[in-house]
Formats: sequence, structure tokens, C-alpha cells
Amino acid sequence: MSFGLGRGRELEPGEYGFTAAQLPPFDGPRIGPEFFFGAERTNAPGARFEIEIGSGKGTFLVQEAPKHPETLFLGVENAGEFFRYAADRIRRHELANVRLLYADAVEFIRHRLRDACVDVVHLYFSDPWPKKRHHKRRVVQRESLEQFHRVLRPRGEVRLVTDHDELWRWCEQHAADAAHLFDREPFGGVSSAGEGEVVGSNFERKYRREARPFHAMTLRRR
Ligand SMILES: C[S@@+](CC[C@H](N)C(=O)[O-])C[C@H]1O[C@@H](n2cnc3c(N)ncnc32)[C@H](O)[C@@H]1O
Repeated sequence: MSFGLGRGRELEPGEYGFTAAQLPPFDGPRIGPEFFFGAERTNAPGARFEIEIGSGKGTFLVQEAPKHPETLFLGVENAGEFFRYAADRIRRHELANVRLLYADAVEFIRHRLRDACVDVVHLYFSDPWPKKRHHKRRVVQRESLEQFHRVLRPRGEVRLVTDHDELWRWCEQHAADAAHLFDREPFGGVSSAGEGEVVGSNFERKYRREARPFHAMTLRRR
């Protein structure tokens, strides 16, 4: 099924988009930002590495990355057309500090990413999977929080925003259960968000037009 995101135009990720097939062998060593950006940029003074899970059309990355040229951003998206759309957009904006990966972010983090290499995990308007039998597909789970803790640097953050009340209660409960791993803090805010916005992603703007309320928190690695 196509969403018609390219409006008839071929979407070209170019060197900005990576597929799981380009990653090292599954049983090989774990990787970090140097795989996507090279060792020199990864080790440059002040360099940070932030991951967005479910980057959708890439609006957050397009807005946030130019404000933080020293930060390396990896958007991980598991819907092929959205991955291609976002990577094409990043390429057209020539955002040298952004890469997109076409993969399941939870699996990527669990199996591929090395310890203590991430400064922030961004999770904005994650799919709520409202039916009980689908809850296991939600990104926030006990094990995924353990994995975020493993890959985050000391005092690194998980930033989470949702409009979905039941998913919010789920996240609050999982945050409470993971209190030995993370301190819960008020959402720190995003510098590229517009006036009155929380993060300014595509879904936030869509839901704001419907006057939905938003919930947000930061989990800081202990
Ligand atoms: C509701 S959209 C939100 C997109 C964007 N964050 C925003 O706020 O506009 C959720 C996105 O997350 C992606 N997604 C869901 N689970 C994912 C996973 N495990 N790994 C990578 N992407 C995922 C979906 O394909 C979808 O594009």
C-alpha cells in the first residue's frame, strides 16, 4: 500500500538513508554513531548522538538538526515509505548531521547498538496499539527501557510525548516500574518547537488542530 507521499516523485534517500541490510552481520560487533557518521565526526569535541524512534515524515529532525550542528541525529523508522520520504527530505535539506535507518528501532537498539553511546532517545507520538492483544507491539516495554538504559550515556534522557491517554498511563506505569533505572522529570522541551508547541512534530500539529491534550515526560538515566 502506498501513502502517495512522493506525489509521483521518486523518493531518493541517497547517502542519508541506511537499510538494515547495510548494517554489519547480526553476530558481529555492536555499532555506534561512527558507523553512520564516521569516527572523526563522532569523536569531535562536543559531539552528541541522539536517536528518534519512529521519525515518520522527519519533521522533528528537519527542524531540530540545523539548530544543533554538533549533534548527530539518527531517525529510525520501520515504515518503508515514511523512511524514504524522510530521508529524501533530509537529503534535499542537505542536513549533514542526520541519517535515517529503515529498521525496527527496538530491535536495532536491542541487538545492534553498543553500550553508552546515546545522549537522547526521542519518542514522539508513538503508535498506541490500543487493543490489548497488540500491547506487546508498543515501543515502551520493561525490556526496551532496560535497553535504553544500556545504550544511554550517564544522565542521558528518554523524551516522550503522546496524545493518547491510555498509552500515557502505560508509560507512567512502566516509568514507575523502572524507577531504579531512570528518574522521571518534567519534559525538558525542544528548542525547535514553535510557539505553544511541545515538540512540533507532524503528529503534534495534526492532533493540535483536533485540540487534543498532550502528555510529556523525560526519563533521566540514573
Ligand atoms: C504516529 S507516527 C509519529 C511520527 C512522528 N514521530 C511524529 O510525531 O509526527 C509513529 C511512527 O513510528 C513508526 N514506528 C512505530 N513503531 C516503530 C518501531 N518499533 N521502530 C521504528 N519505527 C516505528 C511508525 O511507522 C510511524 O511512522
